[in-house]
Formats: sequence, structure tokens, C-alpha cells
Amino acid sequence: MTDHPGLRLDGKRALITGGASGIGFAAAKVFAGLGARVVIADIDEGAVRAARPDTGAIAALTGDITSADDCAAMTGAAEAAMGGLDILVNAAGIAQPHIPSEDLDADTWRRVIDVDLNGAFLIAQAAARRMLPRGAGAIVLISSICAQGSFPGRAGYGAAKAGVDHMTASMACEWGPRGLRTNTIAPGYTRTPMVADLIEKKAFDPAVIEARTPLARFAEPDEMARAMAFLASDWASYVNGAVLPVDGGWGAFAAAGAPAG
Ligand SMILES: NC(=O)c1ccc[n+]([C@@H]2O[C@H](COP(=O)([O-])OP(=O)(O)OC[C@H]3O[C@@H](n4cnc5c(N)ncnc54)[C@H](O)[C@@H]3O)[C@@H](O)[C@H]2O)c1
Repeated sequence: MTDHPGLRLDGKRALITGGASGIGFAAAKVFAGLGARVVIADIDEGAVRAARPDTGAIAALTGDITSADDCAAMTGAAEAAMGGLDILVNAAGIAQPHIPSEDLDADTWRRVIDVDLNGAFLIAQAAARRMLPRGAGAIVLISSICAQGSFPGRAGYGAAKAGVDHMTASMACEWGPRGLRTNTIAPGYTRTPMVADLIEKKAFDPAVIEARTPLARFAEPDEMARAMAFLASDWASYVNGAVLPVDGGWGAFAAAGAPAG
């Protein structure tokens, strides 16, 4: 039997976008705790600076993933700060206000596609441009349970996340032969500031979500971070092009009503 040490990220250098809040913040803490060097980046300058000491990251960068220039600058600065770049986690993203499609204005549609799809593409592309010449690296993106089925009132968000799933396959096939793995997690409802805001706006009833989820609860951000750590680590050395549901069984349930009754 081969001796398998516990999952570690020692020696890995990771850039984590969206690191000021929620899943990105949790990912930074988990990755640093597993031995990685971490740089966090976020569009919110004050929040990313304030978050840094709590994450264990060695630097905090400000940038917008919808800007190709910012993506080039963030990956370059991360590489300079850490002496290289082995892992990109893109956890930057936004929610879409729950609006029926006939009422959804063009700017709101464009904004969610811009951040959640175009931004994911641009930051992954910028990281890949730095990793491909070295012939190694791991990219982890974020989709959603909204990618695979309809969540009425969230057409733009679902389309953006479905785009991320497809893009993951394209990148995995283009970059895999050159040593770069690309994977995505598809979270279920996770207790982050984004979800707290949606609950406050009464976008959904948390009790209904819990009843619809086979594990009968929301996820904690840490549970997303651990799945991302697996995909980023050498433990996932043969995982490429995967969209991993981390959803408490949400996608497994297809019957009417709720799993418990
Ligand atoms: N929380 C959930 O239940 C859930 C479920 C499925 C998918 N997701 C996805 O996970 C990702 C993270 O969500 P979260 O819940 O942690 O949200 P969050 O709001 O807590 O954190 C998102 C972070 O991204 C940053 N950000 C937003 N736009 C940016 C931009 N253009 N450039 C750089 N940074 C930007 C924000 O400032 C924030 O710090 C999103 O893509 C979201 O769609 C979340």
C-alpha cells in the first residue's frame, strides 16, 4: 500500500480572489492552514485589507476581475509576492437580484454575466498565461446549483454559472495537455454575507431551503473551502474538467416535495 500523507498544500502559492468575504475568505484561511502561501484579492479595497490578517495571507491586492488589465496586474503582483503562482481560486462573484425575466433590465443582466462569467474567464486566462509556461498549476472556479436547473427569477445568474461549467471543460481540455488542471465547485446555499443579504431581502425562505436539502441545512463557507483545497491539491492530480457538487445532496433530489417527507 502506498503511504499517503494527509492533504497538504505546503510549497504551493495561491491567489484567491473574492478573498475579503464569504467563500474566498474561508478558502484563504483553509489554504494557509494547509501550508500554502496565499495572496488574497478583491474589488473592495478596505475589506480585503481588513481581512488579510485573519486569513493568514501574506498580501492583499485590490482589483476587478471584469478588467483584463486588473487580472494581469493581480496575477503578476501575486506571482511577485510569492515567487510564483501554482493555484488560482476565483471566489469573486455577485448574486443577481431575484427578478422575473420579463422585468430584468439589460444592465442587471449584463452586470451578472460580466462578473460571474466574463470575470471568471479573464482571471483564469491571466493565471493560465503565467502557469502554462511552467507546465503546472491548478485553477478552481465557482459555479452554483443554479447552473444545472432553473431558479425562477435568476436567469442571468444561472446562465453565467452554466457558462462557467462549460468553460471549465474547455479550459481543462485546452490546458490539461500542458500540465494545468481546471476544476469547479458547484455550491449549494452557503452561509456567507451574500446569502445573508438575500435572506434579509426575503429573496427566499431559509426554512424552505433547509427542507429541500437532503442534509437539511445550509453549508458553512469552510465546507466549500475544503472542497476547493482538495481540487487544488496534489490529491486531485487526476481530476481535470470536473464540476464538483458541494450541495448537501441538493442536485441528487428530483422528486416532488422535500426529502424528509
Ligand atoms: N453563498 C452561496 O450560497 C453560494 C452558492 C453558490 C455559488 N456561490 C458563488 O460563490 C462565489 C462567492 O460567493 P460568496 O457567497 O462568498 O459571496 P460574498 O459576497 O460573501 O463574497 C464575494 C466577494 O467577491 C468580491 N467581488 C465581487 N465582485 C468582484 C469583482 N468584480 N472583482 C473582484 N472581487 C469581486 C466581493 O467584494 C466579495 O468580497 C460567488 O461566485 C457566488 O456566486 C455562492
